[in-house]
Amino acid sequence: MAPTTEPILEVGGLVKHYPLTRGVVFRKHEGAVKAVDGVDFALGRGETLGIVGESGCGKSTVAKLLCHLERPTAGAIRFKGEDITRLSGRALKAVRRNIQMVFQDPYTSLNPRMTVGDIVGEPYDIHPEAAPKGERRRRVQELLDVVGLDPEYINRYPHQFSGGQRQRIGIARGLALRPEVIVADEPVSALDVSVQAQVVNLLDRLQAEFDLSYVFIAHDLSIVRHISDRVGVMYLGRIVEIGRDAEIYDHPTHPYTQALLSAVPVPDPEAREHRERILLAGDVPSPTNIPSGCRFRTRCWKAQERCAREVPALAVPAVFRDTRGPAAHDSACHFAEEKRVVPPEEGPPRSGTPGRANGDGPG
Ligand SMILES: Nc1ncnc2c1ncn2[C@@H]1O[C@H](COP(=O)(O)OP(=O)(O)OP(=O)(O)O)[C@@H](O)[C@H]1O
Ligand code: SF4
Ligand SMILES: [Mg+2]
Repeated sequence: MAPTTEPILEVGGLVKHYPLTRGVVFRKHEGAVKAVDGVDFALGRGETLGIVGESGCGKSTVAKLLCHLERPTAGAIRFKGEDITRLSGRALKAVRRNIQMVFQDPYTSLNPRMTVGDIVGEPYDIHPEAAPKGERRRRVQELLDVVGLDPEYINRYPHQFSGGQRQRIGIARGLALRPEVIVADEPVSALDVSVQAQVVNLLDRLQAEFDLSYVFIAHDLSIVRHISDRVGVMYLGRIVEIGRDAEIYDHPTHPYTQALLSAVPVPDPEAREHRERILLAGDVPSPTNIPSGCRFRTRCWKAQERCAREVPALAVPAVFRDTRGPAAHDSACHFAEEKRVVPPEEGPPRSGTPGRANGDGPG
């Protein structure tokens, strides 16, 4: 599934296996946690790719691989056409500036003993070339202003802020080096629902202002919809369906996506009454012991014998190939079928630009 614009980041066959070992003296390898097990996608310039999936499916591991916080077991990551997977030293440092991460939990990801100024300016310690020493304070104040915080707060500590404000601090730090790509790993999941929309709106505004491309990770499909151009659904270390947001939300063809969508809250009571809840059988299998064939088959209500034998490729299913309709997007299922699960959306959910965050509730 191609991005809507020229690709800035391309991921092919990305794998991260954590070896399982036993014994202290004679360490024995006993299999591996297959956290990421063959992920492919491309992110277009200025685009937002949402990645969703249940806890433990490998979302954060993908995020860490993209930001070079982990080394992949196999596969490649390309930035603007250049393979950056195995860079080291100065070349790696130069690329890392361009791909920054915003973390999930604003309560634990900010060092409580550092002032906001030190936190937001910390990337300049690692990349002193990005801001001369005498300029840093002003730069940090500008960044605070950009994310809707009072620049006068520069000497305060994280505990003096609400959750939403703290996430704004994390975003300001992510912007310090003027990256081109931001990987946001569940940036609003730890926040109050009322504050989530403000932070999503802020990210939206910053994207336009700084020409950013986003990988936006969440477990909640409803949050991702409002910020994403395209959405990829992950299950047990792989993407099982990916497409433009309307294709995924209104024309899902993979049974797992359909099940996830059937659990999304629907505000309209009448629509809620008529929608079908798909309850999945059993638990997610362990990533140390992934089922043969289709990895979703142990929970899929449509599973057949072929599903245990053959791994379904992530591609446009043959039945939709000639239709060119919205169901013709990549879906890793031998028996892909269109099934509308959520009622059509009414009105744009994105709302105006956020003002100062001083009023963000206790997040
Ligand atoms: N350093 C590690 N060593 C061993 N296993 C790991 C390591 N990091 C992650 N895992 C395992 O890899 C799998 C994927 O973890 P990951 O954190 O990427 O999932 P996630 O989709 O981000 O989940 P969540 O929604 O809970 O944040 C999990 O089974 C996790 O326990
Ligand atoms: S390939 Fe088979 S088990 Fe997998 S999602 Fe499709 S029908 Fe279900
Ligand atoms: Mg995670």
